[in-house]
Amino acid sequence: MNNFFKDPRFAGIEPFEKKVWLSSPTMHGEEQHWVDEAIRTNWVSTIGENIDQVERQMAERIGVKYAVGLSCGTAALHLATKLAGEKLYGQARPNAGTLQGRRVFCSDMTFDASINPVAYEDGEAVFIDTEPDTWNMCSQALEKAFELYPEVKLIVVAHLYGTPGKMDRIRQIADEHGALIVEDAAESLGAKYRLNGQWVETGTLGDYNCISFNGNKIITGSTGGMFLTDSVEDAQKVRKWSTQSREAAPWYQHEEIGYNYRMSNIIAGIIRGQLPYLDEHIAQKRAIYERYKAGLADLPVRMNPFDEENTQPNHWLSCLIIDQDAMAPQVRGEQDYSYASMSGKSSPQEILEALTAFNAEGRPIWKPMHLQPIYRSHPFVTRQGLCQGKNALDVGADIFQRGLCLPSDNKMTSEQQDRIIEIIHRCFR
Ligand SMILES: Cc1ncc(COP(=O)(O)O)c(C=O)c1O
Repeated sequence: MNNFFKDPRFAGIEPFEKKVWLSSPTMHGEEQHWVDEAIRTNWVSTIGENIDQVERQMAERIGVKYAVGLSCGTAALHLATKLAGEKLYGQARPNAGTLQGRRVFCSDMTFDASINPVAYEDGEAVFIDTEPDTWNMCSQALEKAFELYPEVKLIVVAHLYGTPGKMDRIRQIADEHGALIVEDAAESLGAKYRLNGQWVETGTLGDYNCISFNGNKIITGSTGGMFLTDSVEDAQKVRKWSTQSREAAPWYQHEEIGYNYRMSNIIAGIIRGQLPYLDEHIAQKRAIYERYKAGLADLPVRMNPFDEENTQPNHWLSCLIIDQDAMAPQVRGEQDYSYASMSGKSSPQEILEALTAFNAEGRPIWKPMHLQPIYRSHPFVTRQGLCQGKNALDVGADIFQRGLCLPSDNKMTSEQQDRIIEIIHRCFR
């Protein structure tokens, strides 16, 4: 690690006294009231007013008929993926997943929780490359993938860092092939998308939709997630699966495999207190994005892009990507890295180290799934076709190499952000 305090480029910059986080929880006080209420009334388990209220309020806010409260976003994605598998291929035996022997097209640049449920259900993820203009699933690569694997009937799509992907085109392609969509809106709660001239929220765009209330998300329950749908049957099925698949018998009666995935009334209390602040958090995140954009405009970098006409991201994380010709050398191994400092240039690892030295938290771009050791043997399709060989086009790998996530905490002050912007400038000196 470079000693940034002895590096003359950083002369005069003081470290932050209190750490500036990437994205930490922001409590407002009402959370305490609803948690206390649950305890006072003895409704602390997986039934209660907080759960009923957040399910109702969330469904109304997002624009779906039903929201099912679950223990986390990963649980929501698992049950959504299983539901899709069952709809497509029928109920599986107790010792097998619903996707056994089936391929599923998946976003490549996302958190692994988006796509691990395909493996939980015994399917094989086929990774679809990323598009440079939204950093989400590339529709041209998806079309190529259907040429290679026309039998595929399921697509798992995530909206990275709160920026919606091009869902109208992805939906069109899915329909052409009779495929279903699992939408992972874990990072994009409150983001909007213009569909047929009308603004709708992410979490309404798939056949099965999921959100997360993880501690780093735009609002949080400390944990928690939801399955969103307009289908009463699907909502009932997910609610039943999430509570150990109990049948309506006087004793424990089971016709299906069950899970302990239901949201607790305590967690729901925190979410209930957070929900009124969703739009305020989005506005704060947007202001952070805009301040970075203006403050970094004179550097050879760009912010994470979005379609300004058809999307309103929630700007959960602000990111930058360094221009190709302003990249200083940077090499990453499996768990280590090295980089060189060069005048007028920099690299994500240098900027991340500088931020750490001054007590701020950035993060590398989510490493694409096709580069993960666990998934490296899976097919990866780019807009040129099946990706083979070292020099093949690979948009995701390029964004991972040149991009990074910036401190995006909504409690960061303008002064703190200006100092972060200054630190980044110094990296390019
Ligand atoms: C894109 C994405 N999908 C799924 C998840 C999983 O959600 P959870 O942590 O609530 O299980 C996360 C984050 O945690 C995420 O960022």
